[in-house]
Amino acid sequence: MNKRMLGISIFSMAVAVVSFALVDEARSEPPGAAKMCQGCHGQDGVSSKDTVPSIAGISAFVHADYLYAYRDGARTCTDPKTKAMCTMTAKLTDEQIEELAEYFAGMLYRPAEQDFDADKAAMGAAIHDEKCGKCHTDGGSNPDDDASILAGQWLPYMKLSLSQFASDEREQPGAMQRKIVGLSEADVEALAHYYASQQ
Ligand code: HEC
Ligand code: HEC
Repeated sequence: MNKRMLGISIFSMAVAVVSFALVDEARSEPPGAAKMCQGCHGQDGVSSKDTVPSIAGISAFVHADYLYAYRDGARTCTDPKTKAMCTMTAKLTDEQIEELAEYFAGMLYRPAEQDFDADKAAMGAAIHDEKCGKCHTDGGSNPDDDASILAGQWLPYMKLSLSQFASDEREQPGAMQRKIVGLSEADVEALAHYYASQQ
């Protein structure tokens, strides 16, 4: 290689390094809309409010699905005053939804530190293993099963969420509906304590 060629190849390597750095930076930059979410769901997607679910680490597929469901009216927004999730998603484009879902999927999920009743949790574990564990794998902690993360979500949020499914108020997969609709209030309570017990 003569000197001139060497000069050119060093120059192009430098360009390649710089452009890699730029791509990397673009990737770690949060989507603009994420700011709207962090006030409630936590800066890193881990919620410190017991009525708000953590959204860090949920698979992008499920997360995007949830946002479409709120936006398109298939999922009720439970906060009676603010209807927060309906307001939040009303103006999001499909592209923004996919970006937000990818962004939060890349964050680390952390289970909530909270009190639970050990007897109820044991009863809930038995119900989970019999009726839910086939889809909600590893005790409901594995996001790769594309069935969300149940383990370590806040107890008050889970009670609400579970009772919406048990009374068939919220759209759900048919095979889940057959297992959950008709569960008693005590069963729902037990399941919520089981998920809360995983810390
Ligand atoms: C004012 C508070 C508030 C803001 C802001 C907010 N959320 Fe939520 N979010 C909630 C509450 C409360 C729930 C659960 C109750 C419900 O379904 O209405 C929820 C539920 C969710 C869920 C469902 C999670 C699950 O496990 O079922 C997702 C996903 C979500 N929010 C994402 C977002 C994103 C993305 C943004 C920003 C664009 C956002 N949220 C902004 C309060 C908020
Ligand atoms: C056939 C598979 C299947 C079975 C069985 C099943 N689920 Fe699910 N579940 C899913 C999938 C997929 C989702 C996520 C997508 C959705 O909400 O449509 C989900 C979502 C949920 C959510 C919502 C999580 C959130 O944060 O919004 C809860 C709570 C839940 N399941 C509880 C249960 C419980 C409790 C049982 C057992 C009594 C059960 N599921 C049985 C597949 C299943």
